[in-house]
Amino acid sequence: MDGIVYPKVSEYIEKFGGIKELQNLEDYAKENHVPIVMKDAARLLAFMVSLHRPEKILELGTAIGYSALVMALHSGAEIVSVEREEGMKETALKNIEEYGMKDRISVVLSECEEYLQKTEDTFDFIFMDAGKSHYREYLELSLPKLNPGGFILCDNVLYKGLVVHDTAARKHRTNVVKLQEFLDYVHSREDLRVSLLTVSDGMLLIRRKE
Ligand SMILES: C[S@@+](CC[C@H](N)C(=O)[O-])C[C@H]1O[C@@H](n2cnc3c(N)ncnc32)[C@H](O)[C@@H]1O
Repeated sequence: MDGIVYPKVSEYIEKFGGIKELQNLEDYAKENHVPIVMKDAARLLAFMVSLHRPEKILELGTAIGYSALVMALHSGAEIVSVEREEGMKETALKNIEEYGMKDRISVVLSECEEYLQKTEDTFDFIFMDAGKSHYREYLELSLPKLNPGGFILCDNVLYKGLVVHDTAARKHRTNVVKLQEFLDYVHSREDLRVSLLTVSDGMLLIRRKE
C-alpha cells in the first residue's frame, strides 16, 4: 500500500538518490517524520524549474523548506511558499537562511486558500503540496494567478495508489474521495491541458490550453 508502482521499481529509482546538496534536510525529515517530496519528485521539480526558468514561483505547503530549496537551487526564481504551521515556518526559515536563500524564498504563514484569495501577485509556476482534499479549491484560486505560459504541478494525486480503489480505510477516505473528484474534474475541463504522471506518489501537470 505504500507505493504506486511495483516495489522493486521504487527501490531501483530510490537508489539513484535525491538532491545531493539537500541530503541533510532529507535525513532530518525522515528522522522527524516530516512529509517532504520523494526523491524522484525532487528530481522532477529540479528538472522542471531548470527547463521552464520561472521568474516567480508559488509553493503551497512549505513544511521544512525542502522543496522550496530544491526549486531555488535549480532556478533563479523568486519563491513564495505558504505554510499554516508556525513551527514549520520557523524551521523552514532557518534552513533557508543556512542555504543562503533568504533573499529568494519568502515563507508566508497562512492558510493556502486565504493567501490565494488575498494575493495580487501572479506566478509562472505553482507547486501544490498542501492539503490533499483541497486541491480543487487551490486550483480554482490558482488559475487566475497563473501567468500566460505558466503551469501547475500537484503532488500526491494518486495517494499511495488508494485513489484507484472504490473504498478506502476511514482515515484516508476524505482525501481519496476528494482526489478522485479532483482528477475527474481536471480531466473534464476542456480549457486545460493535463498530464498525470506515475512519478513519486502521483504528480499532475496542469496548464491552460493556448
Ligand atoms: C507535504 S508537506 C509539504 C512538503 C514540502 N512541500 C516539501 O516537499 O519540502 C505539506 C505542508 O502543508 C501544510 N498545509 C496543509 N494544509 C495547509 C493549508 N490549508 N494551508 C497552508 N498550509 C497547509 C502542512 O502544515 C505541511 O507542512
